[in-house]
Amino acid sequence: MILVNLSEIKQKCINLIADNLKISSREASLELNQILLFTLKINNSELLLKKTITKSQYNKLIKIISIRSTGKPLAYIFKEWGFYGRTFYINESMLIPRPETELIIDVLKERKILKDNIQLLDLGAGSGAIGITAKLEIYNNADLHLSDISKRCTRGIKKNLQQFDIQANVYLSNWFENIPKIKFDLILSNPPYISNKDPHLNELYFEPKRALVAKKQGLADIHTIIENSVHFLNKDGLIIIEHGYNQKDEVQEIFNRYNFNQIESYKDLLGHYRITKGLFS
Ligand SMILES: C[S@@+](CC[C@H](N)C(=O)[O-])C[C@H]1O[C@@H](n2cnc3c(N)ncnc32)[C@H](O)[C@@H]1O
Repeated sequence: MILVNLSEIKQKCINLIADNLKISSREASLELNQILLFTLKINNSELLLKKTITKSQYNKLIKIISIRSTGKPLAYIFKEWGFYGRTFYINESMLIPRPETELIIDVLKERKILKDNIQLLDLGAGSGAIGITAKLEIYNNADLHLSDISKRCTRGIKKNLQQFDIQANVYLSNWFENIPKIKFDLILSNPPYISNKDPHLNELYFEPKRALVAKKQGLADIHTIIENSVHFLNKDGLIIIEHGYNQKDEVQEIFNRYNFNQIESYKDLLGHYRITKGLFS
């Protein structure tokens, strides 16, 4: 078997990634680390001890680096990504789950606001990461419902449900249109909230626009969700929405307009208000 010396090829790979993606050597080295862990199917400590890889592993590594060089995110190359310590199946119709979205789970966990056997809806679920994590981490006895407007997302959600051995209802739905007339105790949503004029959209070229962009300076979907949620929430039901770092005041104003109580926003690790909750009573 032909073996390739890992330390000899590492610098070459880092330079390739850094040059093609126009990132620093440090960032490229972190990327290479992720690619190696994925390609070799080993953990960090095993990687530290690894001296050689096979020629076929080397070829796979180079193939991944060349696809990554087009700018395609690693999550779409690996077809999986981590969220709250678990690995979710990901396809290109799904938004790649973001660390800032984990704040929703942290807030729910810290407060343990509700009883356990709740009706829980993840609206615009994408991969299902939020709803599935909320059930696994906190509300083990919840009846879980997940929806998305994208058929490929709903198929992917079912794959993730199977992977985590969870029973749940999945709906193909334009927000609440096809959601059964259940009264929910908790609605969680990370809807599209980026304005179509936002210059950062270029950096998100590979991700589905439908998952990112909303009309009315990014607030149209948030408005639709809050407005309609009043018909789907139990008395004292809670809705938690992720939004842009500069949208807190507008989102609180929408919650106020529809007479929600205990409206509160929470900051992410960078100190930006990124989620807001409202209680329906
Ligand atoms: C920002 S992504 C969030 C995905 C996932 N919840 C997460 O946090 O990773 C927004 C999701 O809303 C879905 N979506 C967009 N418009 C929708 C609509 N009108 N009705 C239902 N879902 C919609 C998108 O397909 C996408 O999966």
